[in-house]
Amino acid sequence: MDKMAIEGGQALYGEVEVSGAKNSVLKLLFASLLAEGEHVFTNVPRLKDVDSTAELLESLNCQTQFEGNTFRVSVKKPAETVAHYDLVRKMRASILSLGPLLAKYGQAYVSLPGGCAIGTRPIDLHLEGLKAMGAEVKIENGYVHAQAKKLKGTRFLFDNVTVGGTENLLMAATLAEGTTVLENCAKEPEILDLANYLIQMGAKITGHGTGVITIEGVEKLSPSGQAFEVMADRIEAGTLLIAGAITGGEVSVTKVDPYLIESLLFKLKDTGAQVTIEKNRVTLKASPIIEAADITTAPFPQFATDLQAQWMALMCVAQGTSIITETVFENRFMHVQELVRMGADITPKARVAIVRGRPNGLSAAPVMATDLRASASLVLAGLAAKGETSVGRIYHLDRGYENLEIKLASLGARIKRTH
Ligand code: UD1
Repeated sequence: MDKMAIEGGQALYGEVEVSGAKNSVLKLLFASLLAEGEHVFTNVPRLKDVDSTAELLESLNCQTQFEGNTFRVSVKKPAETVAHYDLVRKMRASILSLGPLLAKYGQAYVSLPGGCAIGTRPIDLHLEGLKAMGAEVKIENGYVHAQAKKLKGTRFLFDNVTVGGTENLLMAATLAEGTTVLENCAKEPEILDLANYLIQMGAKITGHGTGVITIEGVEKLSPSGQAFEVMADRIEAGTLLIAGAITGGEVSVTKVDPYLIESLLFKLKDTGAQVTIEKNRVTLKASPIIEAADITTAPFPQFATDLQAQWMALMCVAQGTSIITETVFENRFMHVQELVRMGADITPKARVAIVRGRPNGLSAAPVMATDLRASASLVLAGLAAKGETSVGRIYHLDRGYENLEIKLASLGARIKRTH
């Protein structure tokens, strides 16, 4: 199994281009199921999760082709609209095939994704929303079985802000009869990317990017024949900027809209770092002393839960004590124990972690990744620690970061993948 070996203590300098966003491309690929024909996406990151999505699409009779960063999918009617457990268990986002399959073909069997390292992550709101649109939904043998000859437009209010729930219902509503109004929607930028692609296919959507999205159902969607460029990965951009801060260097990330990581940039400034914003480019110049700064994760535009673990790594070497509050997922502190093995002083209690910073205090250790963003935090801690850190179970990292070690090495990090 691959590991990452990192010789810490090297300040990072230079410029790096951010890849396409994992959390956008997966949904775009599922959205393609709504329209038979050929779809072309550019700026697609080469990630394990994209490969898993391709496998699922192939199992649904689609043909896929992935060359460089261009992904083509040719969508054809599947013999059966089933997303099997073997494929879904590899990637929770597979549940996003449910809305499109149901809306397009009138029924879908999608395996329940099950729990994951960062919490139970139910899909009750996805299912309630589909029921509100007239679907009959049953759970049988570990599968969701949903059917509806034709979904009907409705008003639906999400009890809780959910990114995946918003996306599943948004996709389903495009082919429903009548108008659907979704309230208390997630406002994540990736939802805008998805809505823009749906509109390119002929969907009638307004309000995307706000809490209320209105979708006027249409008879049919069609691929527009134009390639769609996937937005930049704001979480990768944030991770690379934190890498600059934690190593005391100066790092520019390009191709990213700074507005999408504003909550992080404010916090980085609070640590004493200098942040320069230009169009599609952010430069971070680290401060010799990192001041501790508290964060509370929450839906966009507040501090992203997907950057919480990386922020914690930074706070481990800050001067002073910080409080990290995780409000989105109930069990997203799996990285704490591993950071503690590297000398960090962290007390987690329920959804709050108190981090007593130790400037220059981390030391290398063999550590184990538990989930995608936790692995990124361990790599960051390794960049700051004295000695050689080895991060195991790096397959988690490969699910969501394209060539992270190559990008970090181009900034001067001493990092290599070992087999
Ligand atoms: C997506 C992102 C993930 C990110 C998360 C929050 C993808 C592939 N993944 O995950 O990286 O960390 O948004 O920004 O885009 N919930 C319910 N019932 C539901 C659905 C969700 O209670 O039916 C709860 C979840 O358990 C969680 C919270 O709502 O506590 C937010 O989850 P959600 O926004 O749905 O996350 P995902 O879409 O799974």
